[in-house]
Amino acid sequence: MSDEQNASPARNFSLLFGGLILLAVILLILANSVASTVGPTEREMKLKKAEVKVRLQPIGKVNTNPNAKVAVASSSSKSKSGGAPETGKQVYHAVCSTCHGSGMLGSPKFGSQTQWTPHAQKGLKTLFDHAIHGFKKMPARGGSTTLSDKEVENGVVYMLKQAKVYTLAKKSE
Ligand code: HEC
Repeated sequence: MSDEQNASPARNFSLLFGGLILLAVILLILANSVASTVGPTEREMKLKKAEVKVRLQPIGKVNTNPNAKVAVASSSSKSKSGGAPETGKQVYHAVCSTCHGSGMLGSPKFGSQTQWTPHAQKGLKTLFDHAIHGFKKMPARGGSTTLSDKEVENGVVYMLKQAKVYTLAKKSE
């Protein structure tokens, strides 16, 4: 009897202990299942990775768009309206060379001192005037209406200098 009485608290204790372990195991399983539903899903992880990728991107990027370059080039060549006037060389190659390069329509040929001398003898002012307003088969401004007076004059000076008759034209004024 006393044995039973003594054994009883010990059995109760082991029962209680066993119960506690069981409870702990159940709680662990429960916690695990809760954790798996609370944690980020695979889709969320992918989104997070994408976010990180965006954040890791460099601030500036080199512009490889060819159109961007074209825009810059065209704005810098707009010197006809506004910006610095084109040089005589530029004007000659853009407009005057069409005729004067080959002597077309009987125009004094580029670089020919012989052909330019009779023209140079008229004097610089007359040549400027004829180049700007036209003279016989020589169209006003070489047909390029966007050229300013200064640009046409630059073209005249360039051609006269290349034919070595510029000083002659200046003297003849
Ligand atoms: C469509 C063809 C043509 C173009 C383009 C042209 N010229 Fe001429 N130019 C002529 C001809 C033709 C003559 C000869 C005119 C004459 O004396 O009979 C001439 C003559 C001249 C003369 C001499 C004029 C004179 O009184 O003797 C000058 C200066 C001249 N051109 C400047 C220019 C300049 C500057 C340009 C470019 C802005 C230019 N030309 C573009 C055809 C052209």
